[in-house]
Amino acid sequence: MAVVRLDKIVKRYGLTGPTVVENVDLNIADGEFMVLLGPSGCGKSTTLRMIAGLETISGGTLSIDGRVVNNVPAKDRDIAMVFQSYALYPHMSVADNLAFGLRRRAIPAAEIERRVKGVADILGLAPLLARRPAALSGGQRQRVALGRAMVREPQVFLFDEPLSNLDAALRVNTRSEIIKQHNRLGSTMIYVTHDQVEAMTMGTRICVMNAGKVAQIGAPLEVYWQPANTFVARFLGSPPMNLMPATLSPGNRRATSPALDAPLGRWSHATLATYAGKTVTLGVRAEDLGLEKPAGEAVGAIRGRTVAVEPLGAETLLLLDIGGGTEITARLPRQVEAFLDQEVELFFRPEAAYLFDAETGDAIAPAADSATVVSAAVKRRTH
Ligand SMILES: Nc1ncnc2c1ncn2[C@@H]1O[C@H](COP(=O)(O)OP(=O)(O)OP(=O)(O)O)[C@@H](O)[C@H]1O
Ligand SMILES: [Mg+2]
Repeated sequence: MAVVRLDKIVKRYGLTGPTVVENVDLNIADGEFMVLLGPSGCGKSTTLRMIAGLETISGGTLSIDGRVVNNVPAKDRDIAMVFQSYALYPHMSVADNLAFGLRRRAIPAAEIERRVKGVADILGLAPLLARRPAALSGGQRQRVALGRAMVREPQVFLFDEPLSNLDAALRVNTRSEIIKQHNRLGSTMIYVTHDQVEAMTMGTRICVMNAGKVAQIGAPLEVYWQPANTFVARFLGSPPMNLMPATLSPGNRRATSPALDAPLGRWSHATLATYAGKTVTLGVRAEDLGLEKPAGEAVGAIRGRTVAVEPLGAETLLLLDIGGGTEITARLPRQVEAFLDQEVELFFRPEAAYLFDAETGDAIAPAADSATVVSAAVKRRTH
């Protein structure tokens, strides 16, 4: 059992220094794989290091299994951390690197041998036990670093961008390796990354952070399809969600601009009434835009001029200038024929539309029973 709970956690450097983590509330269930995702400098590592006990906590409460650990030293928290730089001991063999932490804890030699052998078998390190780190590939080194955390059999694993030094292919392999180990061990894992693909594929839940604060917490597809604000809408998704200023038409059933006409059937009259005549932000994901007009009357349409055509092989991205300094991107089938500086009209189904408050950036919630574009949710096993 390891439930990790952050209650209004704050980090301030010095008495007058800036607050870099602000009132973070996060409840991590036993066996969960929680990803902290956000841009550089948003406070991910600082949050992780406070959980590890490597950084003091300026405010709030951190508890593990109901025990407040704010002032418990790192070594007594039963947590193991894997860093971006693996920090292996260069003069020691793989076996000694794996065993080192256990020896320092005065664990009996037979037990150390059993654990090192077990972990080496699982991670495919058995043939490499006699080598030194310099004679290993980046991926093998990363597996040793992961193994060093695993031999400790901790309650909680913390990872700080452990894959960012690996090349693309190795990153994918090591990613699945960590997911496999999570499914096997059932330990609580907290994983920091700024890579949305890692977050989407690894996390049972994602905590999106922005400027020291939590922007949204939810299952990967939930934060992707139901972003709580424009920050999350743009941070998850490549290309990011298209956002366009629009005003509500009289009667509030459509959002329009010179380039845009979007039906708002997903929202209740009562919700939209508060925005009557005001500017709102309309969002549509690039993959929900198409050149063919879908059947039905309530269709959304955007007109613009092509400023770039990017054939990526599997698909083609079309960038449109829709005026007012706004550019949008459509993700179209690869066969599409498009030319630069061409007038194009793109269509979307009403359920693909999102609305945000133009001032706060917060999502304007659609009616609970409205149709959504979410088709399937893949569930990861949690223990
Ligand atoms: N010792 C320090 N004194 C003052 N400010 C610090 C200190 N360490 C970190 N910071 C600041 O705290 C903020 C959060 O840093 P943190 O390392 O947690 O970001 P991050 O989300 O992990 O970013 P990255 O993706 O670049 O690793 C940054 O603005 C950083 O400059
Ligand atoms: Mg960091």
